[in-house]
Amino acid sequence: MVINELLQLGVEKLGEREYLDPLLESIIILSYLQNVDKSYIYTHGDKEIPEEIVDKFLNFIEKRKKGYPLSYILKEKEFYGLDFYIEEGVLVPRPDTEILVEWIINKVNNEFKDKPLNVVELGTGSGCIALTLAYYLKNIKVFAVDIDEVALKVANINRDNLNLNDRVSFYKGDLFNGISSLQLEGKIDIIVSNPPYIPTNAIPELQIEVREYEPKKALDGGEEGLLFYKKIVPESKKYLKSGGILAFEIGYDQGIKVKKLLEKNGFKDISIIKDFQGLDRVVVGRLG
Ligand SMILES: C[S@@+](CC[C@H](N)C(=O)[O-])C[C@H]1O[C@@H](n2cnc3c(N)ncnc32)[C@H](O)[C@@H]1O
Repeated sequence: MVINELLQLGVEKLGEREYLDPLLESIIILSYLQNVDKSYIYTHGDKEIPEEIVDKFLNFIEKRKKGYPLSYILKEKEFYGLDFYIEEGVLVPRPDTEILVEWIINKVNNEFKDKPLNVVELGTGSGCIALTLAYYLKNIKVFAVDIDEVALKVANINRDNLNLNDRVSFYKGDLFNGISSLQLEGKIDIIVSNPPYIPTNAIPELQIEVREYEPKKALDGGEEGLLFYKKIVPESKKYLKSGGILAFEIGYDQGIKVKKLLEKNGFKDISIIKDFQGLDRVVVGRLG
């Protein structure tokens, strides 16, 4: 079978569905399997494909048809200009989370340039937030926590790939318990978290890729989706220096509620930042 025939088969099998571009995904999967650029696939339509690649391609297309995330097939996802290794069991980094990272990078560059800073990340998953911050901000040290073994394994792989072993450490535990033995109380400049924030009863309404294949542990934020903010905000006061920053990713309808939670706990300079779609996506505040 030649490239164009195989692509046509992929498109037919995938069919039309929201969030899925059958031709583009077929091209991406085939270029991954052939270890070539997408442009090679576009320009070599009549090139014969070895049978074992055809079999693997059809196998991946079958998985994709059932909603298996493309990033789990390709085992990678680009985040803020860096390539992250990803596998099933860990949340796929989202473009929305880049807004949180960008805000922190700008804040540090504008206010704390070259000053040594301690940063804590809670719920690190693939490590995309902790590692991206450390990659772009040479003056920070990051202590990142996750409760999940697969997440920590993947985060460690990414840390090795990005050569950040000297400034990023990963710990297993339940939120701040993960770093409770390090005596970091009152020593942290920035606490950042993209915690699970989907209300439990909204999970069945998510797109199939997310609800069927991404880890529930990374999604489920309890009845209102606010469980983790309610746990993290009061305890963060113990770890932050005076004037330290707390920065969260939030669900599109949680901005006001998380802002109020921060106010109630004595945080100042609270802002809600919107995502590319104009929806509330990040809340930040400073410990007064
Ligand atoms: C929404 S994901 C964010 C992952 C990553 N930081 C990102 O932005 O792509 C939330 C992460 O929190 C972790 N998590 C859930 N409950 C936790 C807990 N009690 N303590 C620490 N981490 C937890 C999950 O395993 C998951 O990796």
